[in-house]
Parts: sequence; structure tokens; C-alpha cells
Amino acid sequence: MRLKWNPSLRGRSLLTLLDVTDDEMLDLINLAVALKARRQAGIRGNLLLRRQFALIFEKSSTRTRCAAAVAAREEGGASEYLARSDIHLGLKESVADTARVLGRMFDGILFRGFSQQVVEGLARYSGVPVWNGLTDSYHPTQVLADLMTMQENFGRLRGLTLAFVGDGRNNVANTLMIGCAKAGVNFVNVTPPELMPSAELVEQTRAIAARNGASITIGHDPVADVRGANALYTDVWVSMGEEEQKASRMALLSPYQVNARLVEATGNRDNGLIFLHCLPAFHDDQTTITSETGALEVSDEVFEAPYSKVFDQAENRMHTIKALMVSALADPEKA
Ligand code: CP
Ligand code: NVA
Repeated sequence: MRLKWNPSLRGRSLLTLLDVTDDEMLDLINLAVALKARRQAGIRGNLLLRRQFALIFEKSSTRTRCAAAVAAREEGGASEYLARSDIHLGLKESVADTARVLGRMFDGILFRGFSQQVVEGLARYSGVPVWNGLTDSYHPTQVLADLMTMQENFGRLRGLTLAFVGDGRNNVANTLMIGCAKAGVNFVNVTPPELMPSAELVEQTRAIAARNGASITIGHDPVADVRGANALYTDVWVSMGEEEQKASRMALLSPYQVNARLVEATGNRDNGLIFLHCLPAFHDDQTTITSETGALEVSDEVFEAPYSKVFDQAENRMHTIKALMVSALADPEKA
């Protein structure tokens, strides 16, 4: 099984999906599809042999951390997990100095944290590819997996409609707007007026969507706005680092829960509709760390339904991060 990747991605970072062209983004998704098929055929390659990856996490992670570690290891590479409390970054050492040190030892860096400026600084000063594993602003490796999951289910992306229902200005919503625009997926952002994405990003993504025959729409009426959606997507109401806003978010977002009524409102329940969530999710009484009420952003019924593809989406985090590492660092002669 011969793999192909886009040579223009060699040595490149991904700090936001705005960093890649529309075609480069689609090439990453197609490479992830091929890597997944290759893994399912039992093939473990050596595309990242002796490559060393630093995984810096200022915030918690299950999927992103494991996806990066497994992706590297499966192709012969190795990774080092660096939690906020383990290293000096931003405390005793500047971003620029830490970046220059890590760049002397590692071949690539994945960063999860608060500020987009920090991940930009790591990319500027390390001299090696840096991938954004989530900041307050963006979550680009997530959205590669989301689009891959849509492509797996529909066999295409262009012309589909994805409705995101929830906190319309968080990292995931922002990045979905960009990714959908680039892929020609119509994006409907259903959110309270208080949680709208920035006017600048809306304008920017509308221009990208227009050239791909798609639209970016903002609405505030879940039942009316999800009509015609092929994919329903939600995320937590309170993102990491925003915990003090929990009470106001609950009040704003409780009418925006994705539940059976909303699934019905798409008109596509029996016509291939899928439900997506980046996870972790508050969908039942097991996940009540911040909730007294059980399900929050999605009902258990929807989360557990056959049309819920959330665990495929989670698995696809690994294939898409592997595609990024391979595109940036692997030798095409060894494909
Ligand atoms: N979706 C996602 O990024 O999950 P983690 O927070 O577990 O990495
Ligand atoms: N918006 C969420 C995504 C978690 C993967 C957060 O930032 O916490």
C-alpha cells in the first residue's frame, strides 16, 4: 500500500487551519484515511523512525495526548510528555528560550495550552514543525478528524451542511468555521447572541466558503436553524480555563442542548444524519464533575444513538495527527 503526501507540507507547522491551503487540508485528510486503512491492514510502518516529539500540555487531555504519542510510536518515533508543572515554560523561561532548547533536541512539537501567542512563539523560535493541540482560540487537529469522519460517512465533504449548536465562539466552533469553509461544507453556527464568533473571523471564513460554493450562517434558534443539517455537532458549554463562567453558560446554553427534538428538527434523522462531539462530553450521570443535572450539551439518547460517530471521531484524532507528522517529517522515498 503506497502512501502519498503533499510535499508542500514538509517542515510545516499547523497553528490554525488558516495556515494551510484548502487543498493542503484535504490532502492531510486523505493521507489520514490511507494511514487508517494501512493500520487496519495490520501494517505498522517506519515513516517516523528515530523522530522525537515533544508534547507540551498546559491543559488536560485524553485524546490529543494519546493520539500524538501513539501516532509517533506506531511509525517508529518517540515522544516526551511535558506537563505545565514539569517544565519552565512561561515561568522561569521565556517561550523563545524554551522553543530554542526543544528545537535542538526534538523533530516536532505538539502544544496544548491557553494562548495562541505561545504556540506561535514556539513555531517562530524552535525551528521545527509545531502543531496546535488546542488553544483558547483554535483546535485545528480536532477539526481535521471531524472532517475525516464526515468524509467517511458521506463519501464527500463539498455540499454537506454541519450545524454546530452551543458555545459559538470557542476554539472548536472557530476552527470548524474555517475547516468547513475550506472543505466547501455549509456551516451553521447556532449560538446565543452573547456567544457569537468574532465578526472578523466570520467575514474571513465567509470569503473562503464563497470560493468553495458554501456558506457560513449564524443563528439563535436551534429548532429552525438545524433544518437540513447532515451533521449535528456540539461541544462542552464551559471550555477549559473558563470554569468561573459556568453559571452564566448554563443559563445561556440550556436551550441549546442537542437532543431527540433537535435531531428530529434536522429532517435528516432517517437520511444519514450523524452526531459529532470532540469529547469529553457531559451526556449522562457518569460525567457529573461539573454538573448536578446529568446530561448537559447532549442527551444520552443522542450520544449513544447509532448515528453518533463520536468514537470514530476520537480514533480519527490519531490518524490525522499521524498525517501531520508524516507530511512534515517523513521521507517520501520510504512511503
Ligand atoms: N477532543 C479533545 O481534544 O480531547 P482531549 O481534551 O481529551 O485531548
Ligand atoms: N472547547 C473545549 C474543547 C475540548 C477538547 C475546551 O477547550 O475545553
